[in-house]
Amino acid sequence: MKKLPKLGFLYLDYVLRFFDNSNFKGWPDKIEKVVYHWKNDKKRFINEIKKKKIDILIGNIPATAYDTFVEISKELPNVRFVPSIHAQFPNKSKENVTIFCKKNKLSIPKTKIFEDKEKGLKYLKEKASYPQIIKRSYGPSNYGGYYVHKVDNYAEAVDLINKKKYSPIYTQNAIKLKNNGDIRVMLIGHKPVCAFWRYAGKNQWITNTSQGGHMSYNNIPMNALELAVKSSKAARAEYFACDIAICEKTGKAYILECATAFAAFPYIRDWIGQYLMWDFTKGKFKLPHIPLFSWEELGKINSNLLRTMRHIGFSKYKPSYDGEFIINDDPSFSMEKICEDFYKNFPNNIIETRLELSKQTNNNKDLVDKQLKKMNLNKASLTELMTLHAMQEELAIEIHQYVQENIITDSTDLLELEEIDEQMLKCWDNNLCDMRIDINNINNDILLKIKGIGKKLAKIILEYKKDVGAFKSIDELENIEGIGKRKLEELKSRFKIGE
Ligand SMILES: Nc1ncnc2c1ncn2[C@@H]1O[C@H](COP(=O)(O)OP(=O)(O)O)[C@@H](O)[C@H]1O
Ligand SMILES: [Mg+2]
Repeated sequence: MKKLPKLGFLYLDYVLRFFDNSNFKGWPDKIEKVVYHWKNDKKRFINEIKKKKIDILIGNIPATAYDTFVEISKELPNVRFVPSIHAQFPNKSKENVTIFCKKNKLSIPKTKIFEDKEKGLKYLKEKASYPQIIKRSYGPSNYGGYYVHKVDNYAEAVDLINKKKYSPIYTQNAIKLKNNGDIRVMLIGHKPVCAFWRYAGKNQWITNTSQGGHMSYNNIPMNALELAVKSSKAARAEYFACDIAICEKTGKAYILECATAFAAFPYIRDWIGQYLMWDFTKGKFKLPHIPLFSWEELGKINSNLLRTMRHIGFSKYKPSYDGEFIINDDPSFSMEKICEDFYKNFPNNIIETRLELSKQTNNNKDLVDKQLKKMNLNKASLTELMTLHAMQEELAIEIHQYVQENIITDSTDLLELEEIDEQMLKCWDNNLCDMRIDINNINNDILLKIKGIGKKLAKIILEYKKDVGAFKSIDELENIEGIGKRKLEELKSRFKIGE
């Protein structure tokens, strides 16, 4: 692998850590940690990034540090910030959310922002429709609506503004919330990876799952997801979250809030980590497999178990770690064939029993095959089939049915079945015997059951056999008119001389 970029986690004192090493499981190099200590720490911080030779700095910038980090990023032009400073613009304030949405024509409730208190009051008195939602714009957001207020008329608005002294005045039309809730959508690489309704508690207007509200993954409307995707793309955000209101009357979706900083479940942080590693290595790391629209199911799964899901693929069969080892590496601990002089070293009484057994049956060879050796798929019972690596009941039944109509002379004949791939067959090879058919023991029925042999070919083979009596070598098939070199090679994998 080409040299990987040097990663660093951006941490800030007193701020909850969004990522740690566990989210970047598998990253082969050390990931640096750089802590910003607030207050006049800019220079030291920049030097530390340089000293540690960090190429990519990963982490969310909290609202109050946003402007400082804009400056820091300018002094580190070769460092990639993830998410980008641009993507983090809406993290800073509600005002920034509004500017971002307006600039990108993303649907939001009608919003006015006034630096000047008198102008604000004038708007609230003469123009605003009620209820209005008045919010503190700047500072810590996502405080469960602590800085978000509903006013039903001008008098309440004046009262609130005098009391709270929010500056600027940030006021927006209240959306009559459908289902008395709003929708949180989380995206990774512009793909919605989780979305749920957050409902208000009893007698509350604000959606707050920590104060009596609850959540549900059911019936997330498509327009909410579309709006979320559009906003994530506009932000060019590696990961993003939106709070979206659906108007009860019109069904229209509005962004209430969006940011790269949000409360993400641990398994989502893992997915983000995997997504970023995919990005940083230009695809050498695999994208996480994220089942779309399975949020309800995900919501029911214990979150520890869910973290394990990052290792589970739902795609085509791939061998487990152990299986892969057997397939890819020269197996130094693989099972070996028992030694040839097995019988010689056998204690006498066992040999006698075996001889006894073989006397009892004409089909001595079959018996030995069955007891000691390898499986012939044409004769195997379901139980025997089930001993093959990665075999499933349904597939065993399918193979059983397949051999009613066909004779398998080579395991690759089974590639016809949808569930079977070459890797699987490779795993079985050591367990299967030579299934080729004795060419001196054929008839029309048998021939027609063999892959690649049609009526015409069967006829000419049987005619030749009638003429010569018995084949001495498979190569003789080439004497038959109509069988060329290529067909001969193919037939060699289908026939042998003797059992
Ligand atoms: N314009 C609005 N119309 C209706 N409800 C709103 C509006 N703005 C906010 N809310 C409600 O208030 C909650 C908190 O608002 P938000 O802007 O997300 O602030 P916070 O920073 O506290 O999360 C939202 O989740 C939503 O339930
Ligand atoms: Mg919010």
